[in-house]
Amino acid sequence: MARQILIAGNWKMNKGAADGAQLIKDIKAQIGCGCCCGGKSPEVLVCPPFTTLSAVLAEAKGSCLQVGAQNIHWAEQGAFTGEISGAMLKECGVTHVIIGHSERRQYFGETDATVNQRLKAALKNGLTAVVCVGETLAERMAGTTNAVVERQLRGALADISADGMKQVVIAYEPVWAIGTGQVASDEQAQEVHAFIRGLFKTMFSCPSVADNTRILYGGSMNATNAGGLLAQPDIDGGLIGGASLKPADFAAIIKTATKA
Ligand code: 13P
Repeated sequence: MARQILIAGNWKMNKGAADGAQLIKDIKAQIGCGCCCGGKSPEVLVCPPFTTLSAVLAEAKGSCLQVGAQNIHWAEQGAFTGEISGAMLKECGVTHVIIGHSERRQYFGETDATVNQRLKAALKNGLTAVVCVGETLAERMAGTTNAVVERQLRGALADISADGMKQVVIAYEPVWAIGTGQVASDEQAQEVHAFIRGLFKTMFSCPSVADNTRILYGGSMNATNAGGLLAQPDIDGGLIGGASLKPADFAAIIKTATKA
């Protein structure tokens, strides 16, 4: 089964409700009808901040754009100030959630264990999780990229079954490429994606996990470099930060993915 490309925008802490709705209008105008609907077209996802979700869901309704959140707590409810539960996200109407982004690991104490707890909550609530992994520059320079990515994946995916993996998308995001303009080369990215796919062959006895799990690349992906990255055999889409906030750039990546 061919893996359908997924082009996902991570808006991070950008765009309030009014600006977010306008961005969706602009993206829809740029991609036109049919660009991401059916056939060999990519799936398209946008992940705005929590307070922007309702406005974006309303504006995306009836279009091919899917909407996700940027975090989820593992408890259903309770004394967890500042957190959002899976039930709340479901009620809001989102279908996806990003988990374990390096900015959360770096600034908010996210660990492989909490990524695993959040992932279990996402799956329990029927959400598709985009689980992020990736090495820092120091780790790459030390030659430990694969070891770091393997540790992150084994931690994040602990106790997750082959069936559960149907709701999981992996995003390989080298930390040194995020927001820096310094994109991984096609070969560097492909090498890690192939490593992840090979790892899944050893982690899951069911071969469909390695064959069917989508692995996105993230880190300074833009309209210019997307073509080369998406042409790699193990790269199944992108998780895009800065360029997803620019309608023309995001649309150009979607169009590139339509041809890939
Ligand atoms: P940039 O595309 O801005 O480098 O961000 C990538 C990212 O962190 C997506 O989650």
